[in-house]
Amino acid sequence: KEGPPMLWGIELKWISLITLALQNAFLTIIMHYSRISTAPGKTYSAATAVLLNELLKGSISIIIALKRIDTNMSKSPIQPPAVYSEKSNAKDSDRRFPSSSSSAFSLIHPTRLTALSKAVFSPDCYKLSVPAILYVIQNNLQYVAASNLDVATFQVTYQMKILTTAFFSVLMLRKRLSKSKWASLVMLAIGVGIVQMQSTSAPATSHSPPSTTSKINHGEHQLRSEIPGALHEETRVMHPLKGFLAVTLACMTSGLAGVYFEFILKSSSGNAPPPDLWVRNTQLSLFSLVPALVPIIVAPAGPEGMGYVGRVMSAFSNFNGWAIGTVLTQTFGGLITALVIRYSDNIMKGFATSLSIVISFLASVALFSYPITLAFVTGSSIVLAATYIYNSPSSSPPTTRTTVAVA
Ligand code: C5P
Repeated sequence: KEGPPMLWGIELKWISLITLALQNAFLTIIMHYSRISTAPGKTYSAATAVLLNELLKGSISIIIALKRIDTNMSKSPIQPPAVYSEKSNAKDSDRRFPSSSSSAFSLIHPTRLTALSKAVFSPDCYKLSVPAILYVIQNNLQYVAASNLDVATFQVTYQMKILTTAFFSVLMLRKRLSKSKWASLVMLAIGVGIVQMQSTSAPATSHSPPSTTSKINHGEHQLRSEIPGALHEETRVMHPLKGFLAVTLACMTSGLAGVYFEFILKSSSGNAPPPDLWVRNTQLSLFSLVPALVPIIVAPAGPEGMGYVGRVMSAFSNFNGWAIGTVLTQTFGGLITALVIRYSDNIMKGFATSLSIVISFLASVALFSYPITLAFVTGSSIVLAATYIYNSPSSSPPTTRTTVAVA
């Protein structure tokens, strides 16, 4: 019997979960910083960042999917397991391909391309349109939230994803939750509520002059950054309520999209095993391109008389190193998220992201001099305890039936 997929002697499941926790912590910080470290009106376009993220993720997924093709079996490309089997490994494909098979050129061999396109444009590919649209909406909302909430508050409030994921898992996958899991969900809501109350009391401003100390003063929240090279003297107003609304909607779309993607990934039609993860990821990115392009197309045109060139120029204006770093981190996270959903599930994903609260909280204390308030510590502790209880083996759901049709 084959064991679980391993990398460097460690289960891929654990590697992907730990990587996701670190990535999440880093993303929250870099996204927030990339939004607040510029003067108002000089911020890069979130819509362009989301589009670039999808283009990058899609390109990487296509390359990995192409590498995993086993052309020997390409006679039945619509049955992707034959073409893309989880069991196929580098050694198998080396044996089936000439020695040049590892070169970049062999990746675009017509046989490989045909096999890939047949697998990607399979009759059930339309199913990916639902999570694709939801993820694009979520990714855009994330920028709104990151621009209007401080790092730690955003991170904690975003844990409501566990609640929405549980809700959609029960509703769509007919998962059953034990009493302790439901209790931990209530705890989670209370914890998030406490953190939320302390920062919605007044609009906040984030400010990053070279030597300003962080403080909460008459409802104004000033942030200091010591990251060199991106400091400015402008003061930027954040709207916590707008941020919370964005986070709440992002949690809804995250839960729905994650559960839907898990269902598509793990369900099989007939006797055939489910298609390869990287084919599904390619389909997801392709379907994401249309909704990701819409806000860019409807955005106001660029400089007078410059037509499409002006439009492209304005879409990419203010795209500095921080913005590029944010996009790369998000792309990496998308790929890791897919691995986590494939090798664990959405619930374990929630555990990884709540671990990232601690990481990014400690980092934001150091980087942004975030003040440690009693409400924040209490709320965060409740969120972490709830996550622990939710994931502890004793609170495992009695049964899980994932056979219910979502599609
Ligand atoms: O917050 P959450 O964990 O739901 O975020 C999921 C993120 O992972 C989204 O940004 C989404 O675009 C990305 N993702 C992906 N490919 C998948 C699944 C999720 O890029 N297969």
